[in-house]
Amino acid sequence: MSEYTSILVEKIEQVALSRLNRPKAYNALNKELLAELMGALASFDADDSIGAIVITGSDKVFAAGADISEMAGKSAVEMCDLDNISIFDKIMTISKPIVAAVSGFCLGGGSELAMSCDMIVASESAVFGQPEINLGVIPGAGGTQRLTRAVGKALAMEMVLNDRRITAQEALQAGLVNRVYPLDSYFDEALKLAGEISVRAPLALAACKKMVNLAYEKSLKKGLAEERQAFYDLFDSEDQDEGMQAFLEKRKPEWKGK
Ligand code: HXC
Repeated sequence: MSEYTSILVEKIEQVALSRLNRPKAYNALNKELLAELMGALASFDADDSIGAIVITGSDKVFAAGADISEMAGKSAVEMCDLDNISIFDKIMTISKPIVAAVSGFCLGGGSELAMSCDMIVASESAVFGQPEINLGVIPGAGGTQRLTRAVGKALAMEMVLNDRRITAQEALQAGLVNRVYPLDSYFDEALKLAGEISVRAPLALAACKKMVNLAYEKSLKKGLAEERQAFYDLFDSEDQDEGMQAFLEKRKPEWKGK
């Protein structure tokens, strides 16, 4: 796992951890870091011994956004060619649950990365914002779309139009983050949450994640139809047999991911 230079990866029991690691640039998301992150996520997804993933930064900064030095001076065509944003779409294809453990600055593309994860656990010192307006651009990887769905139009407008930054507590109240903890415990709590999830039935976890994300894409009627089909499909899995038998026999289930 030493092929990475801009991230650090580690496995803790059934949880894979990816830590953004460009401290001098406040974890600015450049091509290399994003490609490494995507490579790591894809390898975690293919590894049956991993049940959930945590993405984190440092206590001081999750990520201060896309790398401005990489974007400065580029034309629209050159930005398309750079194609950093397609990685945010690829993150959506990861089937295992991803928890973002966020502390400090979580700005621009950093906030968009956190919002691409399935859950966010924040430290009390986390600050979320979309400051792209200061650079004469807009958020390009979900900061107008996912943010608005999470916090609603009123707060999203303030954040994107006027660089309103919100604290972890405000983000919790607004529905952007799942949980907030003191600085000295947020990371352990994120790991604990991911650890609890990581040992659950793998096929059902993947289906749950897919269906909740689908709620953002489809009408209620179509979403309910897909949910029903996914529910029925799981009745052809060994894990469904095992889960229900274990309940009836009053024992713990042993999941196979089949
Ligand atoms: C490149 C960055 C950076 C960034 C910080 N740095 N943010 N480099 N891109 N986004 C670098 C600084 O240049 C500096 O390097 C070092 O990190 C520390 O930053 P300072 O500004 O000196 O620190 P501080 O005064 O504590 O301020 C922290 C900060 C500020 C508030 C986070 O750095 C800041 O406003 N950063 C930019 C935030 C931003 O605009 N993000 C949106 C980017 S656009 P040196 O070498 O001088 O020490 C975006 C679009 C997403 O994200 C599109 C989809 C991917």
